[in-house]
Amino acid sequence: MTQINITHVVVISLTAVFLLVALDRSGGLRGPQPTYTLPAAPAPVVAAVVDPDKGKPPPHNDTVADLPDGKGREVTFYTCTACHGVALIKAQGLTRDLWDSTFDLMLERHKMVPVKPEERAEILDYLAEQFPPRRKGRNADNPFLK
Ligand code: HEC
Repeated sequence: MTQINITHVVVISLTAVFLLVALDRSGGLRGPQPTYTLPAAPAPVVAAVVDPDKGKPPPHNDTVADLPDGKGREVTFYTCTACHGVALIKAQGLTRDLWDSTFDLMLERHKMVPVKPEERAEILDYLAEQFPPRRKGRNADNPFLK
């Protein structure tokens, strides 16, 4: 009499599983497969919404009095605050050469309206005089160290 032991059960089960998997993978156990079609690509965005104020400095209510008194204050104010307030200017401390480069930057990058050479010279003198390079070092302005 043939005895069925645990080894036979395992071998038969594994064989059955193997056959079923093979049959399934060959497609024998599956009905017709649905066909997939890719959804149509969304229409390309032609014109992105452009915020006209993007990158522009914030508006300001500065007046001439917001710049320190000195020769060239008016012409500097009226030339340099069309686009931004005096805070941007006052935050800088530069040599006349670097103010000159800043002036070029305003002309070239920010499309500032050019001024007459005499005016440019007066503005640069004013800026160099009023906003010179600051002393370096964290203790430069410490009143307790004076
Ligand atoms: C046509 C517009 C326009 C005019 C006029 C203009 N600027 Fe500017 N300026 C800008 C813009 C735009 C920026 C960049 C602001 C920002 O980054 O928020 C800027 C930035 C600056 C900065 C900051 C630069 C930095 O690196 O932080 C300084 C300093 C400055 N301007 C000085 C001047 C001076 C001095 C004048 C006059 C000679 C002047 N600007 C005139 C448009 C202008």
